[in-house]
Amino acid sequence: MTDITQKRQKMAQQEDVFKKLISHCKEYGFVFPSSDIYDGLGAVYDYGQNGVELKNNIKRYWWDSMVLLHENVVGIDSAIFMHPTVWKASGHVDAFNDPLIDNKDSKKRYRADVLIEELLAKYDDKIEKEVEKAAKRFGDSFDETTFRETNARTLENQAKRDEIHARFVKALNESDLNELRQIIVDYEVVCPISGTKNWTEVRQFNLMFSTEMGSTSDGATKVYLRPETAQGIFVNFLNVQKTGRMKIPFGIAQIGKAFRNEIVARQFIFRMREFEQMEMQFFVRPGEELEWFAKWKEIRMKWHKALGLGDHKYRFHDHDKLAHYANAATDIEFEMPFGFKEVEGIHSRTDFDLGSHEKYSGKKLQYFDTELNQSYVPYVIETSIGVDRMFLSVMAASYCEETLEGNETRVVLKLPPPLAPVKVAVLPLVKKDGLPEKAQEIIQTLKFDFKSMYDEKDSIGKRYRRQDAIGTPYCVTVDHQTLEDSTVTVRHRDTMQQERIPVSNLLHTISHKVSLKSLFL
Ligand code: GAP
Repeated sequence: MTDITQKRQKMAQQEDVFKKLISHCKEYGFVFPSSDIYDGLGAVYDYGQNGVELKNNIKRYWWDSMVLLHENVVGIDSAIFMHPTVWKASGHVDAFNDPLIDNKDSKKRYRADVLIEELLAKYDDKIEKEVEKAAKRFGDSFDETTFRETNARTLENQAKRDEIHARFVKALNESDLNELRQIIVDYEVVCPISGTKNWTEVRQFNLMFSTEMGSTSDGATKVYLRPETAQGIFVNFLNVQKTGRMKIPFGIAQIGKAFRNEIVARQFIFRMREFEQMEMQFFVRPGEELEWFAKWKEIRMKWHKALGLGDHKYRFHDHDKLAHYANAATDIEFEMPFGFKEVEGIHSRTDFDLGSHEKYSGKKLQYFDTELNQSYVPYVIETSIGVDRMFLSVMAASYCEETLEGNETRVVLKLPPPLAPVKVAVLPLVKKDGLPEKAQEIIQTLKFDFKSMYDEKDSIGKRYRRQDAIGTPYCVTVDHQTLEDSTVTVRHRDTMQQERIPVSNLLHTISHKVSLKSLFL
């Protein structure tokens, strides 16, 4: 089988798994298309009864890691609507644009920068495949560095890749839309739908949604739905610093909705028009920002890896183009079913935002540093993660199809137990002989500590499968022996092994594994 065939097969398999994951999300009450009975609304989704629990657990994991575990990080909850000048000061009115290009035959619209990033990824893939092939051919005697430096085909691909990359970075830095189009034309990028190279010009498109506040007779004001939560933190910097008597370095964290009129909205909840962000702005002394940038990179990567979804699924990706206000920026990428994609951004934003708000508002946004006996506009390190992307990464990594003995199959969500929507299901073996009553009694002792579920319908095997499909880590079965000696069987989701324990030990056994604390230690 050739490399290309293998690659195609792998992509087809991943696409297949992704499709199954999307249907699973709907079938088991995790994610529904918005306004489903009206056939949905593009790139807008609702979270169902299990989805909202998983989402809340992710938010809680993030919030506690920031606000509970860092004495110098506090939280706020600012409004979605903000004074329109906020978005002028932040640069969003003038520069929050995507470069768009249309294919004239398919009438499909693409982001020009994404098309070029995909082109670069193709060259990377080609190079890696050559190296892998040679490594297999030469075995132990393979010298990768020499191969990369001497193999003609690899060198040719690397040179092309470097050339595209250099042109791309220059075009982005100079906002040269013609050059972006020229790269697409020169490297014969084709539309995946029509297969043609019939492209329009590249145009800029502002991503902010706007609406009117107040009645027209009063003179309505154009306001925006915030495209990031961060600005709510910046404009409250002094309110929080003064009322909380915060000393630099300190952080302000916030979780909330953000809105972007994404043009190329695809890949389910990966790119949405209404989504949720968890952002933290960390205020530091000017000159110390790169040190803090490095620290927050490490802290955030540790937070991701603590979930146990597989360390190899994460990587940093440093930005090719730094925003004009940033002096360092990186993404934490996760291996989604459609490749490595950004889940979180970590940015060193200098004093740009506070400085700009000072200018536009005419109010001083400075901090008096008693140790230095000096006032300054603090520098900021930002960590910004999308709740929905985090949700997708957790679901994608947890979704498993297993073949069991006797060729039976099961779909199981191997969610990290502290994130699972339901922690324990209590199941009477049969619907009689006082077993349902006993099971309900047990639920009463557990329900104040974690989300518990009672289920008596269908065979015990079917009930186990239903819990596997929503990722419940523990199933507790109440049988006739329970009535005699107050013991139950506890079935573990991943191994399917069962153990018999006293009812009085249940709370301890379960809480030990499902508490968020287990992720932090
Ligand atoms: N305050 C900085 C900021 O907003 P960003 O890289 O534009 O930076 C941060 O967004 C995070 O928000 C991303 O890493 C991603 O997880 C999430 N995000 C951004 N746009 C999104 C969208 N359209 N749908 C879902 N999540 C999105």
